[in-house]
Amino acid sequence: MNEQNLSPEELESWISKVSHEFYNLGYQDPWLKDVFKVIKQEIITSQQIDFMLGAMGGPKRYSGRSPGDAHPHIFINEEMWQQRESLLLLAFEKTGCPEFIRSKWLKIEHAFKRSMLMEGPHECRKRWATDELVIVPKPKLKIA
Ligand code: HEM
Repeated sequence: MNEQNLSPEELESWISKVSHEFYNLGYQDPWLKDVFKVIKQEIITSQQIDFMLGAMGGPKRYSGRSPGDAHPHIFINEEMWQQRESLLLLAFEKTGCPEFIRSKWLKIEHAFKRSMLMEGPHECRKRWATDELVIVPKPKLKIA
């Protein structure tokens, strides 16, 4: 399969499969589950599908904040970014997503990386007065 012979429906189907797999992993991840608990899994999954579909040239259904402006209240550092990306790579593997979609996806995400990473929790900003900051330290490894 390559970019030329992929129909819009097939593109959406791959994005949907990967997104569902990715958030299934994220909502079970010992660290990220506590970050994602601010939002329902089905809502963020559908936002991600709409966003990625639009970003990859499909229909523009996503009308929310740009990813660069969507996380000012969440403390995201390099280590959390890597943790999230490892789950995305696993979701690509588990779904058998075609290579050209994987590389496009990563390129799109990396374009927002600099605007999302913070040096420390002091950089977090509420989006509105009643917003909660999401500052979740990496859990310590439990050795049995
Ligand atoms: C470590 C990195 C990331 C983490 C931990 C993270 C986590 C989250 C969380 C918890 C929300 C819900 C926020 C809320 O409603 O309070 C959210 C929203 C969102 N994220 Fe991420 N995210 C990360 C990276 C990304 C990337 C790379 C993209 C896409 C390029 C992205 C796209 C979005 C979008 C489109 C929304 C919805 C925005 C809105 O409704 O305003 N995120 N993210």
